[in-house]
Order: sequence, then C-alpha cells, then structure tokens
Amino acid sequence: MRLQGKVALITGGSSGIGRGICHAFAKEGAAIAFVGLNEHKGKATEQELRELGCDTIYLQADLRDREKLPELVERTIERFGKLDVLVNNAHATNNVLLEETTEEDMEYSFDTGFWPTFLLMKHSLPYLKETKGKVINFVSGAGMVGLSRQASYAAAKEAIRGMSRVAANEWGRYGITVNLLSPIANSPGVERMEEEQPNAYKKMVSLVPLKRMGDCEKDIGRSVVFLASDDADYITGQTIMVDGGTIMAR
Ligand SMILES: NC(=O)c1ccc[n+]([C@@H]2O[C@H](COP(=O)([O-])OP(=O)(O)OC[C@H]3O[C@@H](n4cnc5c(N)ncnc54)[C@H](O)[C@@H]3O)[C@@H](O)[C@H]2O)c1
Repeated sequence: MRLQGKVALITGGSSGIGRGICHAFAKEGAAIAFVGLNEHKGKATEQELRELGCDTIYLQADLRDREKLPELVERTIERFGKLDVLVNNAHATNNVLLEETTEEDMEYSFDTGFWPTFLLMKHSLPYLKETKGKVINFVSGAGMVGLSRQASYAAAKEAIRGMSRVAANEWGRYGITVNLLSPIANSPGVERMEEEQPNAYKKMVSLVPLKRMGDCEKDIGRSVVFLASDDADYITGQTIMVDGGTIMAR
C-alpha cells in the first residue's frame, strides 16, 4: 500500500494507460479523481475501481475546455480535502506528414496535451505546495527522435517536457517533484493497429529490445506508482523511459 492516504488527480483515466494507472494506484491504496471524455467508459472504470475498494470520483470533461480545468482541481479538493499527485496522461492528435499538418492539427494536439497539462499544474500548485506533492507528465519518444507523421504530437510533447523541467527547477523549493514518463504500451489504439496492420505492428515490437509492448497497468501504471510514492522523493526533472529499452539515454 505505497500510496495509502494519498489523493491523485489523473487525466484520461478511463482508457488505455490512464486506466492502467488508475488500477495500479487503486491497488496501492490511493484515493482517485480521474478525468475522462466518454461517460460510458468513465462510469465503467469508476465501478471497477470501487470494486477494488478505491475511494474514487469520475470527472467528465473535455480537457480542451480551458475554463473547466480549475473546476476539476476544485472538485478533487472538495471531495478528498487535498491533492498529493497530479498525473497529466490524456492527449490526442492527428498523425499526418508535416507538410500536410494544418494549424487545426497543431491546435488539437496542444489543446488536448499541452494546455491542460500547463493549466492543471498551475491550478494545482497551491494544493501541491501543502502536500509537497508530485506531478507526472506524459511524453513520447516520438518527440525525442522526431518520428515521421507526428509533428503536432512531437511539438506538444516536447513543449510539455521543456515546461516540466522549468517547473522542476522552480517548484523544488516547495518540495514538489515534477517528472516525465515516456511509455510504450498496448493501449486500445496500439491493439487496433495489431488487428488492422499486423506487419507494421510486428515491426514496431521487433524494435523494442525487450520484444514486447508494455502492459498499461503492470509496466506503466506501476512505474507511475513509484514516481508518485515517497520512494521517489529525490527524483525530479527527469524523463523516465518505460519503453522496453526502445530509446536509450545518450
Ligand atoms: N501507448 C503508447 O505506446 C504511448 C507511447 C508514447 C506516449 N504515449 C502517451 O501516453 C499517454 C496515454 O496514452 P494511451 O496510449 O493510453 O492513449 P489513448 O489514446 O488510449 O488514451 C488517451 C486518453 O486521453 C483522453 N483524451 C483525449 N482527448 C481528450 C479530451 N479532449 N478531453 C479529455 N480526455 C481526452 C482519452 O479519452 C483517453 O482516455 C498519452 O499522453 C500518450 O501520448 C503513449
């Protein structure tokens, strides 16, 4: 029970990696407010977490609606009284060649990834100061190596990375840690690719030194548990690669 007594706010919690994080946090005793777009999936995840004995609320929101973001933090505080961990996991993008990338594509990636991450961090700061809290933001190897067809995604992810490092520097004096996690995992999008493009999927897996995709809960969720726990108190400003060794630090 490494997160017993801790309160977490997790975005994109009703599917894929976010759902894996919610399950891993629930099994370690955390209370969880999680944000999702799809009410049906959100309610289903809420039910699963309650069956694990977790004290949880599902917050329905489109993260592109910036005016709604303060309310997500406030509802977490109203329900649980404090905030220890903020996980900015949600992100959506259109994958097209750079020359075909429109301003709308760029805005979509920044509106679902960068802006919610920045604004939820800002709105959470007063509460994170009280708990010497922890922020974990999601990034991607796509930004680090410049993967083709991922310009808007790579741009938003690297903007998140730059901002998070600044936050790690500025908020260290409050005892707040800010880290980044770069995953590879079998989320529904990746599973769809396995069905629709089996050869491309096999090639992708062959490029992973550990020769398998990560599991949303066991590999990614449990790494986030570590970063959110007291065991990671002296780690900040780092990009933790949880990708089976696909990208190695140079
Ligand atoms: N799966 C991978 O291999 C992989 C690789 C690199 C990075 N990532 C990153 O990890 C994180 C999770 O990835 P995933 O594979 O589970 O993605 P996913 O697409 O399966 O899930 C993303 C989540 O974000 C939510 N979301 C999207 N737009 C939203 C909006 N406007 N408002 C509210 N919620 C919204 C979705 O509902 C979903 O729950 C993302 O930040 C992603 O970029 C994943």
